[in-house]
Amino acid sequence: MSILVAYFSRTEVTKKLAEAIASETGADIEEIVSKVNYSGKIGFARGGKDAISEKIIDLEPLKFDVSDYDLVYLGVPVWAGKAANPMISYIKQNEGKFNDVKFFVTAGGTGFEGALEQMEKYVGKAPLKTLGLTTKEVKHDEFGDRLSSFIE
Ligand SMILES: Cc1cc2nc3c(=O)[nH]c(=O)nc-3n(C[C@H](O)[C@H](O)[C@H](O)COP(=O)(O)O)c2cc1C
Repeated sequence: MSILVAYFSRTEVTKKLAEAIASETGADIEEIVSKVNYSGKIGFARGGKDAISEKIIDLEPLKFDVSDYDLVYLGVPVWAGKAANPMISYIKQNEGKFNDVKFFVTAGGTGFEGALEQMEKYVGKAPLKTLGLTTKEVKHDEFGDRLSSFIE
C-alpha cells in the first residue's frame, strides 16, 4: 500500500509526529510550506485571523501527488479552534484527489474536534482514523500506544 504523510507545522510539534508516522509506516513525507509568513508574534496573530476566516493561501510547490497514494495522513496544528489554514489550502488544492485519509492534530489543549470536523468537510470524506495529541504529549514522547493503534 502506498502511503503519504502530508503535514503543516509552524513550530515543529506536528512535524515530530509526522516524522514518527512516516518512519513507522515507510511513507513518503510532504511538508506543506506556506508562502505567507506565519512566524513570530505577527505571524501568530495573522495565523489566528487567517484560520478563523479559513483563508486559502498560496503554498510552495509540492513534491508528491496525493492521487498516487492509497492512504494519505494529514497532520495539522489547531489554530483558533480550527485546522491551521495552510492545511485547508492544501486540501483545497487537491480537492477530489484523495483516496483514504487519516487525520492527526496537535494543540495546546483545545479545539481538536473543530479542526477534525473542518478537515473532514474540506476533504469530503470521513477519515479512517484520527489522532489528537497535546503539544506537551508530543514534546515528551507520550504517544507510543496511541500512535501504534492510529497507524494500524
Ligand atoms: C495562531 C495559533 C492559534 C492557536 N490556537 C490554538 C487553539 O485554539 N487551541 C489550542 O489548544 N492550541 C492552539 N494553538 C497552539 C498550537 O495548536 C500548538 O502549539 C501546536 O502543537 C503547534 O504545532 P506546530 O508546532 O506543529 O505548529 C495555536 C497556535 C497558533 C500559532
